[in-house]
Amino acid sequence: MLKAFLIVAIVFLSILVQQVAAQVTPCPPGQYGPSSGSCTNCPANQTSISGQNTSAQSCTNCPANQSSLSGTDCQNCPSNYTSSSGQKCVPCAANQQSISGASCTSCASGYQSASGSSCTLIYSKIISFSLGLASFIYLLL
Ligand SMILES: *[C@@H]1O[C@H](CO)[C@@H](O)[C@H](O)[C@H]1NC(C)=O
Ligand SMILES: *[C@@H]1O[C@H](CO)[C@@H](O)[C@H](O)[C@H]1NC(C)=O
Ligand SMILES: *[C@@H]1O[C@H](CO)[C@@H](O)[C@H](O)[C@H]1NC(C)=O
Ligand SMILES: *[C@@H]1O[C@H](CO)[C@@H](O)[C@H](O)[C@H]1NC(C)=O
Repeated sequence: MLKAFLIVAIVFLSILVQQVAAQVTPCPPGQYGPSSGSCTNCPANQTSISGQNTSAQSCTNCPANQSSLSGTDCQNCPSNYTSSSGQKCVPCAANQQSISGASCTSCASGYQSASGSSCTLIYSKIISFSLGLASFIYLLL
């Protein structure tokens, strides 16, 4: 009885091992080819769906506000950077900022930024606001 069970178990296990071995591991996103181990990198700023497509045509541009290194999937641009579809991330213009993966937007009124940096309160506005507040308090006293 035990012998029969062991034989069945061994046969079952060997079928399982064969199936696992025969299974082809697909190429990851950002690469194309017949299987893992023989994948080719897509160009930088392009990606591909994970699979076994052997055509370089299966690589497509990363969407806007994303980019990739050659052979990797698309990632959001860093904050305060942006990109057009299929292009690398570039800093937002001066007086603009962005949250990672979103397009650049203008700084709020009274705020400014250097290219690629976040918007900060304009220093002269802080001084004039403080002076205004000080004179207001002074008049109250
Ligand atoms: C490979 O990619 C191309 C281009 O995207 C597509 O037209 C084709 O159907 C794909 N083939 C397979 C087998 O996925
Ligand atoms: C794609 O991205 C790389 C850096 O990831 C950059 O050096 C290259 O110029 C980019 N290509 C294009 C067409 O923007
Ligand atoms: C990416 O940038 C474009 C303009 O370049 C913008 O229209 C779009 O909304 C942005 N995408 C996201 C997710 O913010
Ligand atoms: C970029 O902008 C974010 C807000 O969108 C800010 O928190 C971050 O500090 C900025 N990064 C730099 C390098 O200025």
